[in-house]
Amino acid sequence: MRILIIGSGGREHAIAWALHQSPSRPVLFIAPGNGGTLHLGTNVALDAADHAAVLGFVANERIDLVVVGPEQPLVDGLSDALRAKDIPVVGPSAAAARLEGSKAFSKDFMQRHGIPTAAYRTFRAGQLSQALDFVRQEGAPIVVKASGLAAGKGAIVCETLVSAEEAVTDLLEDGLLGEAGSTVVIESFMQGEEASLFVLTDGSDYVLLPSAQDHKRIGEGDTGPNTGGMGAYAPAPVMTKERLEEAIKRVVEPTLTGMRNEGNPYQGILYVGLMITTEGPKVVEYNCRLGDPETQVVLPLLATDAVEVFGAIASGRLADLDVSLHPGACACVVMASAGYPGSYVKGKAIRGVEVADRLEGVQVFHAGTAVDAEGTLRSTGGRVLAVSARGHDLRAALDRAYAGVKAIDFDGAVHRRDIGHRGLDR
Ligand code: GLY
Repeated sequence: MRILIIGSGGREHAIAWALHQSPSRPVLFIAPGNGGTLHLGTNVALDAADHAAVLGFVANERIDLVVVGPEQPLVDGLSDALRAKDIPVVGPSAAAARLEGSKAFSKDFMQRHGIPTAAYRTFRAGQLSQALDFVRQEGAPIVVKASGLAAGKGAIVCETLVSAEEAVTDLLEDGLLGEAGSTVVIESFMQGEEASLFVLTDGSDYVLLPSAQDHKRIGEGDTGPNTGGMGAYAPAPVMTKERLEEAIKRVVEPTLTGMRNEGNPYQGILYVGLMITTEGPKVVEYNCRLGDPETQVVLPLLATDAVEVFGAIASGRLADLDVSLHPGACACVVMASAGYPGSYVKGKAIRGVEVADRLEGVQVFHAGTAVDAEGTLRSTGGRVLAVSARGHDLRAALDRAYAGVKAIDFDGAVHRRDIGHRGLDR
């Protein structure tokens, strides 16, 4: 089996790692990949936005399966281009990826299908005064979201009315996020604890990976600015058996059925971000892909051969597959460059990854890394590594992950020391 993975982050390293475990020994290509993926396959300089180039590569390299990691190529229709050539692909069509690519679409979809989520209104460019009237009427706290893709910067939780007015003006009048923010969704603030579900679906059947929780803020105690995610753990204890059953019944199944009934069957991996409120689980957002860094904790818990699982999603054979999970927990701690999520310095030499990788249960996933001409591993991004570990419970997984972090060193490396605190408190 020859597999092309699109993407360059920790998520894609974890996907490559899971596929590489397969006894079928797949040949992997990662476009563009990073300093970790090159040990598992071939990193290729391929622009996912150039569909003709991707199709050409797939034909030349006789690729059997494509796994698309990030959201942008999915929203841009890469899966459609591949399916039109009968190439099996893990990733929804552009029409289905609107669940992430257009918050206005996803909120209307949830309303049509009675899926629990925060109350909202949508405003478009030219409707600034109506949007301002609405936030003044609702008051703070309130959430202002750019409808389009905004690389994690599109959801603004406004604690005060002034900040809500600013956010609406920045997006609708000043074009802060360009086209992505030219339509905004303004929604009620939901109180509770967040958790994520990852639904593997072939368009008809579905299987759930373990629930997970990530840590979005840079600072301990969940303080400071938002990041791409500073760590994660799975399963998330907040997602009890009862809550999971409720989320499946009220969110997962109506979402998949609704998409199918509207003529946009969802085939790929659906990330359902939930808020566990006093009224039960409500949808914060959908993403049309696996999470980062959640992938680095959910895929290590997958016991079934990942080549079979991904192949079944792409070929509509999930019903034939018995997907099983490892017992216990998995946790990961992200090591980032000093200054992240603001401006940060790149090019720092990274030491100790091999030592960490040899520790029991530990697996280091690379995100912003590359190997230079001298063979030295260097930092190339804000989030540099995710040190993951499995254990018989969350405490054991965290202890192992932090032992891995201790073994690794690069100038200015920062990490949070309280990953998993909510799970441990339960
Ligand atoms: N960790 C959040 C995300 O992947 O969107």
